[in-house]
Amino acid sequence: MLKRRVCHFSRTLREVRVLIFESEKTIPSSRYNSSMSTVLITGASGGIGYELAKLFARDHHNLVLVARSADKLAQVATELQAHGITVKTIALDLAAPPAPKFLFDQVQREGVIIDVLINNAGFGIFGEFAQMPEQEILGQIDLNIRALTELTRLFLPAMVKRRSGRIMNVASTAAFQPGPLIAVYYATKAYVLSFSEAIANELRHSGVTVTCFCPGATHTDFARRAGIENSRIFKLGAMSAEKVALDGYRAVMEGRTLAVSGVHNWVVAQANRLAPRKMATAVSRWVAEKVS
Ligand SMILES: NC(=O)c1ccc[n+]([C@@H]2O[C@H](COP(=O)([O-])OP(=O)(O)OC[C@H]3O[C@@H](n4cnc5c(N)ncnc54)[C@H](OP(=O)(O)O)[C@@H]3O)[C@@H](O)[C@H]2O)c1
Repeated sequence: MLKRRVCHFSRTLREVRVLIFESEKTIPSSRYNSSMSTVLITGASGGIGYELAKLFARDHHNLVLVARSADKLAQVATELQAHGITVKTIALDLAAPPAPKFLFDQVQREGVIIDVLINNAGFGIFGEFAQMPEQEILGQIDLNIRALTELTRLFLPAMVKRRSGRIMNVASTAAFQPGPLIAVYYATKAYVLSFSEAIANELRHSGVTVTCFCPGATHTDFARRAGIENSRIFKLGAMSAEKVALDGYRAVMEGRTLAVSGVHNWVVAQANRLAPRKMATAVSRWVAEKVS
């Protein structure tokens, strides 16, 4: 057991060296230039999804952008079309059960082939589970797990058939340990990590890559919606959405199975993997607690 953990640790240590080395370099804009492939990004009206959309647009990928706010999506589309790409927007609440299939059918009807699927839309809610409204609990499961899984299931077969495609599922450093006071969110992200790593393995000879991308605390609208702006985790410092998106962009284009954004987040994630479960849970509660 110990030997296995040491092997795992030294393997991940090699990976982090690559990460540190790469984050010191600036990426030339042409490195991931496309021959006009199409990328579907959920949650692209703001935050990390919007920053990812900007990176794909810069490298001339066509875009299909999805979120609930039609007006924000329209603004993003107008901005990104300046790169000479096609940008379609679909305003949809992906937490609604029929939404993923509706989105898939809409894309099919328009004859658009999706080369890259970015399952980024997600949210969390702070609070003790016993007091949390059922709607908030199920909403997180519906968006973070059900919609992500269904979209993967819908878009994957055509990628496998073409023997080409990329999927990136946005999890979180929350995926690596239980999260008291934000329990459902952490559990949904643990699902995303486990699911993504498993299907990446199944697809390893298929020509399709699956990337699980794990940001840590990031300055977006996420913390406000979750009610965790005053939690230690955000008070301790958060990364910019631009930097996080660049890490995610690089990870998906390089077909990495797992990428944690930020060296400090990578170290904490690995420590949580190795630490006794009770200790990791206690520390997780401490960082989630609110400070004045
Ligand atoms: N920010 C962080 O600290 C952090 C850390 C780790 C992981 N993450 C993960 O990163 C991903 C992106 O989060 P973010 O930080 O960029 O948050 P954000 O700023 O709140 O953006 C979330 C995006 O998802 C969309 N969205 C929310 N609910 C939706 C729904 N029901 N249907 C369709 N679209 C929906 C939002 O647009 P509309 O409101 O217009 O629908 C928005 O475009 C999430 O999966 C989150 O869990 C974030």
